[in-house]
Amino acid sequence: MRLDKFLAHHLGISRNIIGKELRAGKVTVDGNIVKSGAYQLSFDEQSPIVNYAGNEIAAITAPRYFMLNKPQGYVCATDDPTYPTILYFIDEPMADRLHAAGRLDVDTTGLVLLTDDGNWSHRITSPKYYCEKVYHVTVEQPLTHDLIAIFEKGILLRNEKNLTKPAKLVIIDDHHAELTLSEGRYHQVKRMFAAVGNHVVALHRAQIGEVKLDIPEGEYRPLTDAEVNAFLA
Ligand code: URA
Repeated sequence: MRLDKFLAHHLGISRNIIGKELRAGKVTVDGNIVKSGAYQLSFDEQSPIVNYAGNEIAAITAPRYFMLNKPQGYVCATDDPTYPTILYFIDEPMADRLHAAGRLDVDTTGLVLLTDDGNWSHRITSPKYYCEKVYHVTVEQPLTHDLIAIFEKGILLRNEKNLTKPAKLVIIDDHHAELTLSEGRYHQVKRMFAAVGNHVVALHRAQIGEVKLDIPEGEYRPLTDAEVNAFLA
């Protein structure tokens, strides 16, 4: 099989772009740089080891799972006309194939899970699976203890028909709380506090399911097998 065809198939990018990447010397076959797309790969005896940008194709095409500690000012998208995206932090080949399993607002910080495995991210984002997300919330007005029961019972958000699912509020002090949600409606935390006459001034996601954020802001790391599998149990 031609090398450019093999790369286009496995990386999902056009042969045009593949040609440029080849000419830039980014592709090796069995350790040797190959610049010609017409190079023939032979799979007769031992499969050749094809590397792109320093990574074996087999490793790139296997599903990938990462956590990122998102700073403020970045959007959870692959492309945005206004803000830089979270991909700024991700130094991986084919990074634009990754998507966030549950987005954070541009001004929200903390845990974002990134993957190219759509079935896996569905487990995290679909309300069907009740995957819990833990947020640290800072609010403008002092918190009152009656909110615990209100959030537990569910709130009718503006322009919505169904109550929010039971949420667990732990009040830490007058202006700080921890909120655990099992769904992820648009701007949900901010809208829940707005519905009770308060205003969220800072929001940070600390945990999704069993996965706890444990890296500094602006850094990312691969998830362990146990972390990946925790969502499939
Ligand atoms: N809820 C919000 O309001 N914003 C987020 O970024 C996440 C949850």
